[in-house]
Amino acid sequence: AGEDGLQAWLRYAPLPRGHHRSSLPSRIVALNDSSSSPVYTAGQELQKGILGILGEDLEICDSAPAGNSAILVGTVGQYNKVYQDATLHPDLSEDGFWLSTQGTTVRILGQNERGVLYGAFEYLSMLAQGNFSTVEYPTNPSAPIRWTNEWDNMDGSIERGFAGNSIFFDDGAIVANLTRAAEYARLLASIRVNAVIVNNVNANYTTLQPDNIEGLGRIADVFRPYGVQLGMSLYFASPANITNLTTYDPLDSRVIAFWNDKTDEIYQRIPDMAGYLVKANSEGQPGPIQYNRTLAQGANLFAKALKPHGGILMFRAFVYDQLNESDWKADRAKAAVDYFQPLDGDFDDNVVVQIKYGPIDFQVREPVSPLFANLRNTSTAIELQVTQEYLGQQCHVIYLPPLWKTITNFDLRVDNSTSLVRNIMTGQHFDRPLGGSAGVVNVGQNTTWLGSHLAMSNLYAYGRLAWDWTADPTEILQDWIRLTFGHNQQVIDTITEMSLASWPAYENYSGNLGIQTLTDILYTHFGPNPQSQDNNGWGQWTRADKASIGMDRTVSNGTGYSGQYPPEIASLYEDISTTPDDLLLWFHHVNYTHTLTSGKSVIQHFYDAHYAGALTAHSFVGMWESLKPYMDTERYDDVLFRQKFQAGHALVWRDAITNFYHNLSGIPDEAGRVGHH
Ligand code: GCU
Repeated sequence: AGEDGLQAWLRYAPLPRGHHRSSLPSRIVALNDSSSSPVYTAGQELQKGILGILGEDLEICDSAPAGNSAILVGTVGQYNKVYQDATLHPDLSEDGFWLSTQGTTVRILGQNERGVLYGAFEYLSMLAQGNFSTVEYPTNPSAPIRWTNEWDNMDGSIERGFAGNSIFFDDGAIVANLTRAAEYARLLASIRVNAVIVNNVNANYTTLQPDNIEGLGRIADVFRPYGVQLGMSLYFASPANITNLTTYDPLDSRVIAFWNDKTDEIYQRIPDMAGYLVKANSEGQPGPIQYNRTLAQGANLFAKALKPHGGILMFRAFVYDQLNESDWKADRAKAAVDYFQPLDGDFDDNVVVQIKYGPIDFQVREPVSPLFANLRNTSTAIELQVTQEYLGQQCHVIYLPPLWKTITNFDLRVDNSTSLVRNIMTGQHFDRPLGGSAGVVNVGQNTTWLGSHLAMSNLYAYGRLAWDWTADPTEILQDWIRLTFGHNQQVIDTITEMSLASWPAYENYSGNLGIQTLTDILYTHFGPNPQSQDNNGWGQWTRADKASIGMDRTVSNGTGYSGQYPPEIASLYEDISTTPDDLLLWFHHVNYTHTLTSGKSVIQHFYDAHYAGALTAHSFVGMWESLKPYMDTERYDDVLFRQKFQAGHALVWRDAITNFYHNLSGIPDEAGRVGHH
């Protein structure tokens, strides 16, 4: 039990009868036989996968007798050394690979060893989907940073994690048995994620104690054969906790020496450590501002310590202050640009500013963070959540790539010319050396990894998109369905339909028109609580009263946030008539009777959307039930339980939100559904 969940999309289930198959070479040649090498792992994985998928047990050797066909795996360098007669120079960048099934030998060549493993997983994914076509192509990543963040605490709990306790930590230390950590690295390698920040952004100085550095070293050791590097979050004030220093001022020479020494000590144990992630001066975390130093000075402290080791410093842009709602111009959404834009150019070259996709906090609908348009001389990365913090916490099915693509395909019109978010964050647009993405994943000990079988499509898609932001969400989804649930067409069609309807449905029965999710924002971030948005310092306000609703973020009359975008986008949002309906209440404060471009009033849209969304959630139950004949009991029951919960919870959402605004506004529902008891 649980095995299907643990294997996720790497089950290597036997290919159903009737699928065309062609004969494979009888051996695998792995050009590096050191067991910590991803090339060795690639050989092992191919052997295991082909046995599972095709029932053929191939031997692994370190060379092929001339004239014998083989599945050959190695780096381009290793290949050209052995096969001097056939020098190959595929067009590869770091982590890229070249896959050729032309002729009798399958060749999987990586730019580096990690790329070799990626290529092996690609080939296995083809076989598992019954694809025996002849191919020959190179593929390269969109960006060097394709990381996950895990918000795991040293005591084993996980902040905003919905799948049980940590696979890394327990009781202040690293767990003894790292089997799950290795299995996780295997999943990540198959989607080409190359590093994991293993501990929470709300970090703890105890991570840096010698025993824990040794423990982190053990995690890095089990990651290494999969080409996954370990990184860690740091607590900014650590020197004042671990040493007898009374300061953590980033310009104090003793503080600098502390971080340099600590970093050297860590690299002694983990020579390939990816880098650090730092959350400073945010939500109570200490930072450089305590010492009147800039955020850039704080970031560069770590960047300089990492530099000699080739490490990267990810510095979070999620910096904001508590605000007073009685100030009409106060706006948390402005904070990131206010803090970071003046520092553009001050960050060292190995610093990457990690920016949440929207200016607030992983809401169901947000405009793109304007910070992406404001940092031309700073490397940036986008931060996404696979963990569904505000989005139903894995009890609601939401396939997230359509949301992510809405953000990453957005054209910010910097200098009045095409400037897609995806090209900015990968470093191309402003010609930055670094860039990419961080996905907050928060896997736990649960055998489904995320707490829900269907939620795993988001992890799978995160890796696929991090590699190629132009990839199609539906194609990615259907690869995942075939690899996870098999080849039945009804299964593929039904899960596709549910997944693609899921984000719009959740938006419909939670927060509409850019008002934010309307979930409880004070504690749980789960379930409806529209009244929690206002009358507090968190700045996620709706400013809803009897007559009107929305945040006026215009320059002319509001907070001025719209002016943080380049001119074309600023004027789009400044003008209520050109603001898209789905962000209307993000940018404008209007009467409930205001007419949308759809022709409906705001309040009637609220009512109708909530009924429509809840109905869609309800339909998922029957859709899932139709798959019973094609599903194993365990996964069928587990998902069915969740779909029934979601259907019920969507009604709770619908009734809570529609009644709240009905009571507030006194405006009846044209269809007569709301307010009758
Ligand atoms: C959200 C989340 C916190 C988290 C924070 C962050 O506010 O609720 O749990 O620590 O984001 O991203 O730093």
